[in-house]
Amino acid sequence: MGDYTNMSAYYDLIMTSGYYDYEKIVDNIIKEGNFNSVLEIGCGTGLILEELGQRKPRTEIMGVDLTEAMLNIASERLQKFSNISLSLQNVTLIDLEKKYDLAFSYGGVWYFVVDGDNEPFMVSHLADDEDNHRGLERISHHVNSGGRLMLGIQGPHHDYAKPIKNGMIYSQKITPSDAGFTKEYYLADDADIVMAQTLRYRVYSFDEALALLGKYGFDYHPTVEHGTHFIEFRKS
Ligand SMILES: C[S@@+](CC[C@H](N)C(=O)[O-])C[C@H]1O[C@@H](n2cnc3c(N)ncnc32)[C@H](O)[C@@H]1O
Repeated sequence: MGDYTNMSAYYDLIMTSGYYDYEKIVDNIIKEGNFNSVLEIGCGTGLILEELGQRKPRTEIMGVDLTEAMLNIASERLQKFSNISLSLQNVTLIDLEKKYDLAFSYGGVWYFVVDGDNEPFMVSHLADDEDNHRGLERISHHVNSGGRLMLGIQGPHHDYAKPIKNGMIYSQKITPSDAGFTKEYYLADDADIVMAQTLRYRVYSFDEALALLGKYGFDYHPTVEHGTHFIEFRKS
């Protein structure tokens, strides 16, 4: 489980210092096809939903996240959007009243890492295999037949330290572990560590990921376009 409480107060600052490009992410979500309702899994502070809400004012939008401190920030940010709802939920137990045409996750619960010509692999914030099965079963229950699941693509993981826009230094350190890795996140103001967070991730090879997703009705739908931010699955 990926609890972001420690990072929440600094999350927007770090992400809007060039970590993610929210406009491009939403371009990708919109251009891949039509949908009347959409669910973001692990919406965090609502940075994607804000961009999506501005561009899709008539679409029913729902965001879920398990970290209350992240969702509180999202709730403030998104209060002007009457078409966006938020819900505090762990994806392993997610229970909503409706099914969606599209579910997506970007840097949220599941994502793919694409590193040059190497085979992509899937990373999960759920370190236990059983939780991944539970989570995908629950997501499958909330996506319409013929609907889609889009999982974000990220670049290769590595250790680094770099300044963010207020001059603090953001750093991350990755240590391989059983079936995945541990990632330590830090934010430092000179010698003071103002934020520290450690999360455990699980890794699935591409084939393992396709089998896992396929078990819950999500079939890989390859797209040939370059510059895409997502890998797409169609719900049978
Ligand atoms: C890196 S943030 C991404 C947030 C947002 N999608 C964005 O692009 O800014 C990952 C989010 O996934 C949430 N998350 C991790 N595990 C989760 C789970 N099991 N159920 C629901 N949300 C989860 C975390 O709380 C965190 O807010």
